[in-house]
Amino acid sequence: MPKTVSSFELTLNSRSRHQTLTSWLYGELRSAILDGRLAPGARLPASRDFARQYEVSRGTVVSVLERLQSEGYLTSRVGFGTWANRVEAPKPARQSISTPAYVRRLISTYKQRPQPWVDLAFVGGIHPFRIGVPDLKEFPSEVWGRIAAARSRKFRSWLKNEADRRGYLPLRYAIAEYLRTSRGVRCTAEQIVLVSGIQQALDLLARLLLKRNDPIWMEDPGYFGARIAFDSVGATMIPVPVNAEGLSVSAGIKICPDAKGAYVTPAHQFPLGVTMSLERRMALLRWAQRAGAFVIEDDYDSEYRFEGTPLPALQSLDNHSSVIFIGSFSKTLFPALRVGYVVLPEPLIDLFAGLRYRTDFRNSSFDQAVLCDFIVDGHFGRHLRRMRNLYAGRLAILMEGAQQHLDGFLEISNVRAGLYTIGYLKNRMSSRQAEKLALAQGIEVLAVDRCILKRPDPKALLLGFGGFDELAIRRGLIRLARALKQPDRGM
Ligand SMILES: Cc1ncc(COP(=O)(O)O)c(C=O)c1O
Repeated sequence: MPKTVSSFELTLNSRSRHQTLTSWLYGELRSAILDGRLAPGARLPASRDFARQYEVSRGTVVSVLERLQSEGYLTSRVGFGTWANRVEAPKPARQSISTPAYVRRLISTYKQRPQPWVDLAFVGGIHPFRIGVPDLKEFPSEVWGRIAAARSRKFRSWLKNEADRRGYLPLRYAIAEYLRTSRGVRCTAEQIVLVSGIQQALDLLARLLLKRNDPIWMEDPGYFGARIAFDSVGATMIPVPVNAEGLSVSAGIKICPDAKGAYVTPAHQFPLGVTMSLERRMALLRWAQRAGAFVIEDDYDSEYRFEGTPLPALQSLDNHSSVIFIGSFSKTLFPALRVGYVVLPEPLIDLFAGLRYRTDFRNSSFDQAVLCDFIVDGHFGRHLRRMRNLYAGRLAILMEGAQQHLDGFLEISNVRAGLYTIGYLKNRMSSRQAEKLALAQGIEVLAVDRCILKRPDPKALLLGFGGFDELAIRRGLIRLARALKQPDRGM
């Protein structure tokens, strides 16, 4: 067992009046080992230091340590010291899973809001075909590490010049240039506010733009993360159907013409994967202008398009400052980076930056500076090109493998974009039944009915392919076939 010297002093409860020093010290050390405060392998200080630290005699310490050793809680070896053993604490008779009444009183209704699907369905490590995971093994971590080391060696000279509230300015310049050239976004660095990711952007935008009962158009099916953000401010979500051309603007106008805003994923609709047609884009912008509504354009993975030329962002067509464009580096680099951006129309810049400041006074300037160098030195563009090829290959393997193993059971969409694809069930199972049977085979697919607001179950599954190599994809498909080819058990 690896032994570690704890550099922290163990806190012991104070001794009650009727306890002897020995029974107090014994009881305290024993419970520290049982409840894991003294982790397996944690080395105890030498008895002399220990005695000084807790103001007891060395004799008391030695006798307590000897007793704990004889009972198996500690191991001691001359020349190596004394360390805690792994001891399983007896499980409490019954663990309560319901929230106690006093906690229910304390917490707000926020807690009752919808939870991300990830909490609902999957436990344990990452298995094929979990969505939302880029391949971290392919990330050029050595380059990143070199840049981070160089930045940290000199941080006294640059970190004191804190960026303005919108985030590290050179990074905002770099992002503005990237968005202008790659996505056609019309923006300057002044319009960009850095956030921790799209989810934070949505949360702040919901608070800035919506109050209780305000109606907002939502794609149906659509992205649950947006639903969480708008629901937490009590907005009324108006389900607007999506078909092969994206959100149906005419249906939205029929259902709720005076909504305050709309949330859309035009480049690669989540979860159906379709691209919003130019006609629909124009119709959406015309409606937004007439209704005085905002449009949030979530551009979460548009960098990955494996055929045809990508349509420029919806924002590029907007002449009336209706569109707020949001994106992040979660899919292009890695989600734990937590750097995203919001491109705001001029009148909203200060309001948004002010709200962001109220929830977090500072920026993660260090990470932002490393990312800035990574982009400016050309590594970002290079990484993107490489990953685009890799992911295109993985999608091709998935499509070909699905033909071979799942023909007649799951029909994979022919959209070639993103890090996930959608498969339509052809075996009379509901999305949720298929998700459950797949999980029993160790396969993570997402039931698309988790993304619906009102419409019936599309009987479809999302399959992420980005984070899995050829072998994992092929093995995953065989298992998925095993799950989907089971006779309908009427679950
Ligand atoms: C449609 C959509 N928007 C946003 C996000 C989340 O982005 P971020 O990690 O930047 O919060 C995801 C993540 O999978 C997504 O699918």
